[in-house]
Amino acid sequence: MRKVLIALAIITFCSALNLQNVLTKLGYQEETNYFGFKVLTKEFEDFVDTVLIDGFKTVFEDPSLYATFMKTISSFTLEDKKGAFIQCSKGSKPGFFKFLADQDGVVGPNGSETIVLTPKEGDCFDQVTVQYTKINDQSVELIFTSGNRRNDTADNCKESYVIGSTMNYYSLALGKPNKSHKWTLKNLKPQNIKSIEEFGLRVFKTCDKFSNILPDVLLSLGLSLGGLGLNPDIPFFGSKPSWWMEVLNPLFIQQATGYLWLRREDKYVDLDETEVHPGDLIIATRMDGLDQLIQWGTGSRSGHSVTLLEIDGELRTVESQDSTYWPKHGIQRNTWKDWKQWAKNAGFNVAVLPLSEENRKKFNNTAAVEYFLNLEGTPYGYSTFLYGWVDTENKSLPAILDVNFVYSALTLVEKFYPSIPKSIINEGLNHRLGTQDLNLVQLYEVMYQKNLTIAEVFAIPEQDSWLYSYGHSLVCSAFVAGVWRAGGLFGDLQINVSEFTPRDVYQMKFFDKNFKKPEKCHKDGLPYCQIMGKFVMDVITDGYNSITPYEHMNEHCPSQPPFYLRTQGC
Ligand SMILES: *[C@@H]1O[C@H](CO)[C@@H](O)[C@H](O)[C@H]1NC(C)=O
Ligand SMILES: *[C@@H]1O[C@H](CO)[C@@H](O)[C@H](O)[C@H]1NC(C)=O
Ligand SMILES: *[C@@H]1O[C@H](CO)[C@@H](O)[C@H](O)[C@H]1NC(C)=O
Ligand SMILES: *[C@@H]1O[C@H](CO)[C@@H](O)[C@H](O)[C@H]1NC(C)=O
Ligand SMILES: *[C@@H]1O[C@H](CO)[C@@H](O)[C@H](O)[C@H]1NC(C)=O
Ligand SMILES: *[C@@H]1O[C@H](CO)[C@@H](O)[C@H](O)[C@H]1NC(C)=O
Ligand SMILES: *[C@@H]1O[C@H](CO)[C@@H](O)[C@H](O)[C@H]1NC(C)=O
Repeated sequence: MRKVLIALAIITFCSALNLQNVLTKLGYQEETNYFGFKVLTKEFEDFVDTVLIDGFKTVFEDPSLYATFMKTISSFTLEDKKGAFIQCSKGSKPGFFKFLADQDGVVGPNGSETIVLTPKEGDCFDQVTVQYTKINDQSVELIFTSGNRRNDTADNCKESYVIGSTMNYYSLALGKPNKSHKWTLKNLKPQNIKSIEEFGLRVFKTCDKFSNILPDVLLSLGLSLGGLGLNPDIPFFGSKPSWWMEVLNPLFIQQATGYLWLRREDKYVDLDETEVHPGDLIIATRMDGLDQLIQWGTGSRSGHSVTLLEIDGELRTVESQDSTYWPKHGIQRNTWKDWKQWAKNAGFNVAVLPLSEENRKKFNNTAAVEYFLNLEGTPYGYSTFLYGWVDTENKSLPAILDVNFVYSALTLVEKFYPSIPKSIINEGLNHRLGTQDLNLVQLYEVMYQKNLTIAEVFAIPEQDSWLYSYGHSLVCSAFVAGVWRAGGLFGDLQINVSEFTPRDVYQMKFFDKNFKKPEKCHKDGLPYCQIMGKFVMDVITDGYNSITPYEHMNEHCPSQPPFYLRTQGC
């Protein structure tokens, strides 16, 4: 942990200065990595730190690489399409989020037993056995035993495990073959034993190899390090994403989903108030790690959704927003002029998607304004952030994110910072299980009694009638869908707007396919006007304006890279 902090401090410090010079002085060597990008590396005792200093240049300088890339991803086999790019497996290089872990086995629920963890590609040992013994009502014991080293693995290969119930946690690294490692839990309270006998002691194996884990953490932190302030004029601590965020995030998305963010000339197009209309959709993406998590999870190329309303005769943007770099919080209205300025300050990439003539006529601004006024000031809907995107039991999360691991890790977080799981998942789980104010440990007991798995419970659709401690819980895209529903765009259909991701809103068949772009917009081939940003906001190759609304839409949609294919009527 200290190393992470030191490294973080170095990164923070360097951002203000010239990163490359500083790292070179610290003994980092310049190298060309396997993508042909320049990196600085330095070997530490137990890991090699690698800093990317020259990201996508090669690809952007040669657009034909994009075509090659598209060809590559369209030639994937069905098997590839089902899987994800960032897999829970060992890599020769550090990777994004590979410090996460996958559930390899469970002991506890069935009493004393021995399980054998079978190796996956790249694992160190031909087998690892886990022997669980319930010694008495207050103590249990786990013995991990490594088998032989697999013939193709290095002598220093180590396997690292995290073991978690909802109340006890442990981690260990196995480095030597034929060696046993014992973990004894003594003086357990009845609720600890209960947790072990219901949730089990789940054995999670870290995805990446041991020596990559710290670099994995650093790489992943780099995605969102910087740009959290409000001042557009200062680097790193200001409101714009730092330069490495704009290098690492596209790289991460390419590795995670196969999508390549193309760069463009950052020319601002000032659409005035007569050129945007109530109900139009504004899509925005910021290279800040969070929008990219949304893209990884849902396929959405837009990380934020905003719409417009005419309130008391004045045009206003309306949105559900809560970012440190944004001056206002919660469900809010702003003038179009302020919004554009704040979006520029935030380093957003923004495009305006115009409603079709027909929908513009259909859109009842008065009714939509009533909906907005009822919600104005409500905090951003963190509590439903995950549920809009997790619709299915096992086809909604990137392969590397194991919901069981997330749950167990959050029960640990809950012990120290109960407000974190409380604000992101507990309330939603309580709604799904028909309980109130239970914490994660208690919630699991209910799932156990109801014979439901964690994944099954996550997949239960969110209902708009559910109220949270702060009222209705709406993320940006759910709020936009709510405004549209209030304005009559869905007609009489039964729609739960909480199920709409930013991708779902731009895929609605609500937009003007014959839109005549104002002269001042770029001639970039997009059928709508991108008004700012260094990256192309391309949603035309992702089902823009393609889905006619239907009853209960988006309640059961899978979402897996690379294509995030929807199933019929999902
Ligand atoms: C162990 O318990 C799990 C449920 O927790 C069950 O699915 C599995 O079949 C049990 N295994 C044995 C060997 O009893
Ligand atoms: C490693 O073991 C596998 C089977 O376990 C075998 O097929 C392979 O030839 C072995 N490789 C070497 C280099 O011994
Ligand atoms: C590990 O034990 C097995 C038998 O249990 C033996 O065949 C093997 O040689 C041992 N390996 C090492 C490295 O001691
Ligand atoms: C628009 O909505 C308002 C408020 O709900 C309603 O009074 C009005 O009749 C609606 N207008 C049309 C044309 O449906
Ligand atoms: C995913 O869940 C479905 C049932 O919802 C099940 O039939 C299928 O086997 C599961 N797939 C995997 C890989 O677990
Ligand atoms: C629990 O659910 C599983 C499958 O979902 C089923 O096979 C089993 O019979 C259920 N057990 C109880 C006690 O309902
Ligand atoms: C939301 O979804 C639930 C479950 O599918 C359904 O019972 C409810 O009617 C839906 N609400 C609306 C407004 O469509």
